[in-house]
Amino acid sequence: MGKIIIAGNWKMHKTQAEALEFLQVLKSNLEEANEAREIVLCAPFTALGVMSKSLHGGLIRLGAQNIHWEEKGAYTGEISGLMLKELGVDYVVVGHSERRQYFGETDETANLRVIAAQRHGLTPILCVGESKSQRDAGETETVIINQVKRGLVDVDQSNLVIAYEPIWAIGTGDTCEATEANRVIGLIRSQLSKKEVTIQYGGSVKPSNVDEIMAQPEIDGALVGGASLDPVGFARIVNYQ
Ligand code: PGA
Repeated sequence: MGKIIIAGNWKMHKTQAEALEFLQVLKSNLEEANEAREIVLCAPFTALGVMSKSLHGGLIRLGAQNIHWEEKGAYTGEISGLMLKELGVDYVVVGHSERRQYFGETDETANLRVIAAQRHGLTPILCVGESKSQRDAGETETVIINQVKRGLVDVDQSNLVIAYEPIWAIGTGDTCEATEANRVIGLIRSQLSKKEVTIQYGGSVKPSNVDEIMAQPEIDGALVGGASLDPVGFARIVNYQ
């Protein structure tokens, strides 16, 4: 078991004003008894600065949704670890299936980003997951093992989070059975040298299914997309029973 981390992945949602409004409502809905759970909000780059000022010293940590492997240079549209660190960011999502599908991310580029994040003292959240056709073809285990292996070449596993996100469960409302997510996460853990790495489940996590997911012994947290946009619902997810 790793440290419990519940992270929201806002994707391309929320202006600065909307982000600040969200924080106010979220904070007033968190239960103090749950302080052992780390809460992370992976916001768009444009909202990170104001969120960081409003969060300083609190329980909620900030995450970004991408990081380039170089410190600076001619890489239009990319962002470096130095820039994120200056904003008070602690986590960064790497290798999300939407980046792989729409922006040409591969296991190799994800690996470079993971290493860059660690070099800047950021914790990478490396996402892995199989597609529906891979699952139907019985390839889930091979796909996941390969993604983990290639994503973690030369990576220090003491500062790492992995998110198992079956692609067919993302944004579809079609959650992976909790016991099946637990099985695949156990498989991921068996590939690691450090067994205490936090491994999250992601894919249609919501207030109505989070309790069952978090009751599974291998699952150390959740990476929540759509349901992280509503502060009351996200607070309910963080306050899972
Ligand atoms: P979802 O997204 O919760 O909307 O399914 C999860 C993710 O993409 O991280």
